[in-house]
Amino acid sequence: MPTTAEPDLDALVEAGRTALAGARDLDELRAAEQAHLSRRSPLGEVQRGLGQLDPEARRELGHRVNQARTELQAVLAGRRSELEAARDRSLLEAERVDVTLPGRRPPRGAVHPLTRAADEIIDIFVGLGYRVFEGPEVETDWYNFEALNFPPGHPARSMQDSLTLLDETRPPGWLVLRTHTSPGQIRAMEAGPPPLYVVVPGRCYRADTPDATHVPVFHQLEILAVDEGLTMGDLKGTLLSFARTYFGAERDIRLRPSYFPFTEPSAEVDVSCFICGGRGGDCRTCKGDRWIEVLGAGMVHPKVLANGGYDPNKVSGFAAGMGIERLFMLRSGLADIRTLTDNDLRWLGSV
Ligand code: DAH
Repeated sequence: MPTTAEPDLDALVEAGRTALAGARDLDELRAAEQAHLSRRSPLGEVQRGLGQLDPEARRELGHRVNQARTELQAVLAGRRSELEAARDRSLLEAERVDVTLPGRRPPRGAVHPLTRAADEIIDIFVGLGYRVFEGPEVETDWYNFEALNFPPGHPARSMQDSLTLLDETRPPGWLVLRTHTSPGQIRAMEAGPPPLYVVVPGRCYRADTPDATHVPVFHQLEILAVDEGLTMGDLKGTLLSFARTYFGAERDIRLRPSYFPFTEPSAEVDVSCFICGGRGGDCRTCKGDRWIEVLGAGMVHPKVLANGGYDPNKVSGFAAGMGIERLFMLRSGLADIRTLTDNDLRWLGSV
């Protein structure tokens, strides 16, 4: 259909320029391109109508349409590169990493304070020439009691409320959770001939109701030395050396007579108070006593040496047993043993 009215190309270019240059993002720009440059746009329609014009008019209008198109294409290209650059900038901004920021530290685990105390105590004895020997936590009545000179029914057994395990094929109480690390004495002797210098660390179990100073699962360290001619003097010198390393170089120790079935003679060992320096008075740690009980010890009973396969006429030995929790609590001032297993990170992180 021939067009008679002269199209207002200037108005089309002006409208197109406004729409293209004013597009606020690439979607709007595509819509404006569609509206002002596509075949269906007013400019496209003018172009399609060219065929109906006579050659002279076609050439003349065709030229102006091309100019108009070229002009709008330039506006389109300019706006597109602006909008693309803005889009790239905002993408980069969103992904920006500040490599100068400090890294995030993942929480770090640590060795439990009680394990640290045990390691420290073991190290002291390793420094004196002892080696570490470990026994099982489930013991037979023989190793836990009988071989250590606690006969069945002996009243000393009631000093240690044991947790027994059921074994239908055996008499009740045949298997126990070890109540102390002393059965390690027998096992260490069975494992090799004298001389023997071992420490036996480990977990122990007693049917105790938890309170500030008791928990049913706790840790001990056993010391056993067997050699020719060992005396109580060797025991005392060894424990004094231990006490001075663990509690401080000014400490003294004192042995008080006591009773354990597996040692003869037996002693309770006290260390001079490391809070008041042994002055007593109103010291709350030793309660004015100047001494603090830290462990049990003694000369290994001849029957125990024999039960371990050693000849009590040829060798003698000394032994000691200490509670790791107690040693840790004494030195750190911790008042309640249950704190050790509360798993409270505020406390764990502070010691
Ligand atoms: N086994 C004892 C207990 O748990 C501690 C002990 C005392 C161990 C004297 C010893 C020792 O080796 O000589 O009560």
